[in-house]
Amino acid sequence: MLSRTPPMGFNTWNTFGENINEDVIKETADAMVEKGLRDAGYEYLVIDDCWSERERDPETGKIVPDKVKFPNGMKAVSDYVHSKGLKFGMYSCAGTRTCADYPGSFDHEFLDAETFAEYGADFLKYDYCYKPQHYHGDLLYRRMGMALKACGREILFSACNWGCDDVHNWIRSTGAHMYRSTGDINDSFVSMRDIAVSQEDKLVYSAPGCFNDIDMLTIGMYGKGNVGSTGCDDTDYKTQFALWCIYSAPLMLGGDIRTFSDNILKLVTNKDLLRINQDEEARPAFEIRNQSHSKVFVKHLSNNEIAVLFVNYDDKTRKIELYMEDMGISAASGYGLKMREVFSGEELGVKKEYMSRNVPAHDCECFICTLSK
Ligand code: GLA
Repeated sequence: MLSRTPPMGFNTWNTFGENINEDVIKETADAMVEKGLRDAGYEYLVIDDCWSERERDPETGKIVPDKVKFPNGMKAVSDYVHSKGLKFGMYSCAGTRTCADYPGSFDHEFLDAETFAEYGADFLKYDYCYKPQHYHGDLLYRRMGMALKACGREILFSACNWGCDDVHNWIRSTGAHMYRSTGDINDSFVSMRDIAVSQEDKLVYSAPGCFNDIDMLTIGMYGKGNVGSTGCDDTDYKTQFALWCIYSAPLMLGGDIRTFSDNILKLVTNKDLLRINQDEEARPAFEIRNQSHSKVFVKHLSNNEIAVLFVNYDDKTRKIELYMEDMGISAASGYGLKMREVFSGEELGVKKEYMSRNVPAHDCECFICTLSK
């Protein structure tokens, strides 16, 4: 089964945009291995938009890799990625053209799926630009879903229609293994926060087999790259990662892995956070404190543990309160939570009925807890 837990990997778009080529992909593959990301679970290396020639081959009708960016073709790139123990991802679009105006797969779905299988692709991100108006999105995603089933290779189907057309109602039925449920992220705290807030009522739609994708992470970009914007600081990135993890979102790194600092590597390989993200039951988090400036999310994990995330979206320190009653632990039961904070390692002991934390601006605290008397 593909997508039993949220897919993890890297995608070229956030940092490189159209500036992709064979060397960038190979260097990124090397870095994923050398920096321990592959071993932490980041397995897909996905080439996003702008990889092909502007037009299909007039004789075969096939999409052709850009001859300057990828002089040895895509199979050579894919072979290199596979030789590093990673999986290889490609990109196309349900419309006639991709978002950056390269050939899309509309009416070429089966041929293109075969082409991606020839490349040795293991993943296909499938965008939504230039969709012919009179076609419904569900038919177009169904088509590529079928084409991927027919192509003779197991390919993870990553839909990307930005949460439009009530996609959460129909996307699982198309065969997709993950689907973008938001618009595009940029590297700012506001963008990350707005995406997370917009998904609070969508968390229940995400489950094994098909996960809500809230876009590639901007962690480690610091304002540079293709979706640079104002940039974030390390506190913002910490909160971004904790949110993506407790949301059970796919973890697709978008920063330039080749330049990741030890600090950033430590964040994205945090074992407790990855455990929360990759929990096999993939239960949706529920919210128990929903104020615009501060939130508390609770997620049941498969081994009777409970993850609790405090998030402060405000620009100043906030006292965030937790009433155990709100998460189903009655005062009369005598039970409380034994809490360990996963970034600092701080053990709080058993907290009953009520507790509060002073969380600095944009920061978060994330606990792994067990029920205890
Ligand atoms: C859309 C997608 C992005 C990226 C670009 C490429 O905007 O949502 O993630 O793939 O297209 O052009």
